[in-house]
Order: sequence, then structure tokens, then C-alpha cells
Amino acid sequence: MSEIINLADKIKQLLPPELVNFMRIASDVAVSQGQNLYLVGGVVRDLLLERTNIDLDLVVKDNAIKLAQQLVRINQSKITTHPRFGTAKLRWNKWSVDLATARSETYTKSGALPTVKPSSLHNDLSRRDFTINTMAINLNPGHYGELIDPCKGKKDLEHKLIRVLHEKSFTDDATRIWRGLRYEQRLGFQLETTTLRLLKRDIPMLETISGDRIRHELKLVLKEKEPEKVLHRAQELNILQKLHPSLKSDGWLAEKFEQARQLNSANVPLTDIYLALLAYTLTNEDNEHLILRCRLPKSLAQILRDTNSIKGKLQSLSQPKLTPSSIYYLLHGYSLSAIAASLLASDSAVTSQHIHSYLDKLHYVKSVLSGDDLKRMGVTTGPHIREILHQLHIARLNGEINTKQGEVKLLHAWLTRRRR
Ligand code: CTP
Repeated sequence: MSEIINLADKIKQLLPPELVNFMRIASDVAVSQGQNLYLVGGVVRDLLLERTNIDLDLVVKDNAIKLAQQLVRINQSKITTHPRFGTAKLRWNKWSVDLATARSETYTKSGALPTVKPSSLHNDLSRRDFTINTMAINLNPGHYGELIDPCKGKKDLEHKLIRVLHEKSFTDDATRIWRGLRYEQRLGFQLETTTLRLLKRDIPMLETISGDRIRHELKLVLKEKEPEKVLHRAQELNILQKLHPSLKSDGWLAEKFEQARQLNSANVPLTDIYLALLAYTLTNEDNEHLILRCRLPKSLAQILRDTNSIKGKLQSLSQPKLTPSSIYYLLHGYSLSAIAASLLASDSAVTSQHIHSYLDKLHYVKSVLSGDDLKRMGVTTGPHIREILHQLHIARLNGEINTKQGEVKLLHAWLTRRRR
């Protein structure tokens, strides 16, 4: 019999006390309901690797929703349930925990979501993607902390190997191809020889994956700490090209991704800038194909279209003697993510300086007088009101005025000149 490994100390060391406490309570409640509770998947893998991960995935044998409903009453959390899958999510303060009923899966059609039915913990672990994700920790009193490792995940973890459980894994669900690359690059592991062969064999299966699921995978890649590594590996294996044949992950992209991380702009999600940079070299037509393939939502599609449109203005933006208002009107109306990506992509110092001034300053400049203020001050109603407001804004942008009094003074001067 193999030796029992107990991870109770690691749990205590590496997980926040609130979550450890929650697991203790949850296991007591599970016992009172005649159920068993296990910690599973990525968090177990990361506990063994001593990597931070607070995304708790709990598996309940037999009914996760029943357990979650009782836990809600104890810790005042918010609950979301999916009865069809037997899953529940609890959220309280800054924490969130997923609870799932132990289940088995059958794939009736490649690429589609599987059919699930309640099953044993063992079957639940054996339906998963890679051995390193098939470990569980027993949370039941009397066995708390004991590692359950039916697929020898710990051994693969020690050998730094990503290994599928069976030869149809990628055929059943080709999103696992992207998942495999993410783990390989994130953890500095290798795809085990047979797994790599199966992965290469099943690359065409990526075509069976819906746009929504592909977009989800791409988003997960772009959320990695260094997505360029995953993209580069995907290119090497001809997987990136399945997203769009013109996509490239080269030294330029790696450098721009690094600069995007340095930019660290609170206004713009890093993943949006990454996406715009990844698609930077695409033509309008290629962009539209990518948008369609990944069923990008309007906001993301707009970022790609804006980035492409700004490319056409880079020549104008590189002129050294541009007034602030000219810079403003060249960039105004584009999404900030597209502007930030263009800043990083530009190789002209003057252009960068201009885009920087837009992002740091010009974008925030507003004039304070409104159309109603103008009417109160004697301006007659009509289309010229908009023109006057526009001129006030330009004067503000160009630093000719900085205060409300300045605006009023300028307005009076115009009105006097008009009366004459
Ligand atoms: N899983 C799977 N096949 C998929 C997606 C997920 O087998 N296509 C399994 C994996 O075993 C994974 C678990 O479902 O451990 C939960 O999925 P997810 O939350 O995406 O993975 P984590 O391991 O929790 O997260 P990550 O690895 O990204 O840290």
C-alpha cells in the first residue's frame, strides 16, 4: 500500500485563514448531511508546488447544492446555483468558492460540452484534463488533509510533466490543447511525449470549438503572467495560426507585451492591450475574420477596429509641431485600450510623446460652460452654440484658458466682436 501523504500543514501555511476556516465548517456540515467533501484540481496542484492559489474548488459526494444552501445560512454568503450541473458558487467578502457534485462526463460530440451525471470522486477526477489536475485532498474529519492521487499526478508534478489521462482527451475537448500550453508555459513544465504527439494529432479538432469557447481560452491565455510565452509556443506548434493564419508571436510582440506590463494603466485592462497588440499587424479584413472566429463582443471588436484605424493616423501624429487640440481630435473617440496599444506599437518618439500627452492630460480636458450658460449670457439659440462650445474646448486644450473666468472672458470678447 502506498504511503499516506497529509497536506494539512501546507493548507494552513499557504491558504488564507478565512478559507481554511470555511473548509472546516463546510466539512462538518457535509458530515451532518451524510456527505463527503474534497478539495480538488488546480488548488491542490498549486499547494504541492507551493504556488499561491485561492480559487477553491470543492467536490461534494453527493449533492453540492444541498451543502451550499446550508452554508449560505452560516456565513451569510451569496449563492448562485446551476442545478443542471449540480454546482454552486458561494461569494462573501472578497472570497468565492466553487462547489460541484462529484460527476462523470460523457462527450457525445467532439468540441461540444459534455453530458454529466452524479458519480464517485474517482470518476470525477478521471474525467479531467491532465494528471496534475486530478489530485484531491480529503477534507473529512478523521482524514483531513490526506492526498488522493489516483492518476499519479504528484509523480508528474515532480517530473514537471503535463500528461493527458487517455488518448481521446483532446478529441473530446480541444480547448485542452490551449490549456496544456498554458500549464506548460506557466509552470515551466513539458508536455509528456505521448501527450505532445496526441496534441499535434488533434490540432485540427480546434475547428470543432465554438467561438465563445475559443474566446474564453484566448482570454485565459491573455490573463497569464507572461502570455507571450504561451502564444509563442502556440505559434511553434501551428496552433496560433488556427485562430487566424496571419497572427504572429515574435520578438516584437514579446517586447511590446513587456512594455504593456510596465505601462500599468489603471484605466485600461492589460488583457485588452495585449489583444490589440496581438492583432496589430492584421489588415482590416483579417481583423473581421478574427472577430468573427472568436465571437468577440462589441467592446473588444471596437478595440481592434480602433487600433487599425489609429494606424492610419500615425503619420499625422508623428508631425512635431502639432497643437494639443490637433492631437486631441486625431485621437478623440477611440477606445483608450486601442490608444494605449498604438502608443506601445509606435516606433516614433514624437508620436509616443503626442499619444502620451493625450492619455495623461488632453483626454481629461473639459470646458465648463454649457449651452444653457451660453444662453443665459445672451447667446441666441442655434447651431453656433455648439461651435462656440467647440472653440472654448479648443482654447482649453491649447492652454489659452484654464479657468471658468477665462472662458467667460473669451466668450464676452467673441460676443463683442460679433456685435460690432
Ligand atoms: N477541466 C478539464 N477540461 C477542461 C476544463 C477544465 O478537465 N476543458 C478540469 C481541470 O481538471 C481543472 C478543473 O476542471 O483542474 C477546473 O478548471 P479550471 O478552473 O479552468 O482550472 P484550474 O486548475 O482550477 O485553474 P488554473 O489551472 O487555470 O489555475
